[in-house]
Amino acid sequence: MAVSKSKAKDNLRALAPQKRTALVKRLLAWYDRHRRRLPWRALPGEAPDPYRVWLSEIMLQQTTVATVGPYFHNFLKRWPTMEALAAAPVEEVMSAWAGLGYYSRARNLHACAKLVADRYGGNLPGNESELLELPGVGPYTAAAIAAIAFDKRAAPVDGNIERVLARLLAIKTPLPTAKPELRAVAEALAPAQRAGDFAQAMMDLGATVCTPKSPACGSCPWADDCDARALGIQPALPAREAKPDRPLKRGVAFVIVSAEEEVLLRRRPPTGLLGGMHEPPMSAWTDRFPAEPLALAPVKAKYRRLPGFVRHGFTHFELELEVYRTEGVTRAKAAGAGEWAPIDNLDAFALPSVMRKVINHALGDRDAGPLFGDTRKIKRSREVAKRRR
Ligand code: ADE
Repeated sequence: MAVSKSKAKDNLRALAPQKRTALVKRLLAWYDRHRRRLPWRALPGEAPDPYRVWLSEIMLQQTTVATVGPYFHNFLKRWPTMEALAAAPVEEVMSAWAGLGYYSRARNLHACAKLVADRYGGNLPGNESELLELPGVGPYTAAAIAAIAFDKRAAPVDGNIERVLARLLAIKTPLPTAKPELRAVAEALAPAQRAGDFAQAMMDLGATVCTPKSPACGSCPWADDCDARALGIQPALPAREAKPDRPLKRGVAFVIVSAEEEVLLRRRPPTGLLGGMHEPPMSAWTDRFPAEPLALAPVKAKYRRLPGFVRHGFTHFELELEVYRTEGVTRAKAAGAGEWAPIDNLDAFALPSVMRKVINHALGDRDAGPLFGDTRKIKRSREVAKRRR
């Protein structure tokens, strides 16, 4: 702790008031010429819309600008105001979110819209401490909304900004230990005027110039101020502590198709990972594949074990699924096992990316080989797949 406090002091000493003023001025001048046009961003001279800023910041948590774009447009079209979103059924919001990942964000988004509609008449509060009380709004998002939507002096620090600041002052402490040090630098730099533009300018600088690999230092307004550049170590920063390997979990999934071209889906329990989302029936995820997968199928039928696996990375583990498919199942046979989703209207269901992968894997080769459900064949196909890997 003592070490990091003294480092933090050194950093701030390196940012004497005159230097801070010069850095802010140079970055804002660069932003005025090079700012990105983003769907949620107000144009120069336009007042930002706090609803758009909040919606985009929640979507941008853990998701890239390119992925967020179409979801942002779709949400805004369906629910143009906080009140409209608050009045929507949560299931519709979850379905519209499907594919963006980290689904607790969608639940919190809806809970937040309801709270803001009830408590604040649909208008987001403008200060960080009140924003922090809202569902789904953590310190980063509160600071981003306060700065961007309300132009309050606040210092949101995301991965892009961490990289920019670690390079500017050649901070070699590895992440995540360096987080408080970098936050202190960001807070020291944040200007009282144009705080929102300054925060967005740092985001843009990190995304377009001070990129992780091969930064474009020749185009950087801070090139002459950058300690990492002076030392020639900019590509190596920020340093990162080694991450432990993510464990691998395994399971089997059943894609059950009806004669009417529907797939059987069920809902996951309301809380926990992917809470309340749809999925094809599947086994629990454990450290090994179930020995008798077909005993776990919710509908007795002849299943075909599809070649290959579906793999998906979650934050804390990797998942590997075997997929089994059967077709022509009748409603009577599947009674009570879930609900039927038309294959040509799967978007109406809250299907997370991993579940879409499972369905695509199962339906991608509809005319492959005969159906089978023989445990010996399954074991053999697992061995063949293992040898191939
Ligand atoms: N990442 C998170 N918030 C952002 C924003 N407002 N603009 C661009 N990238 C972002």
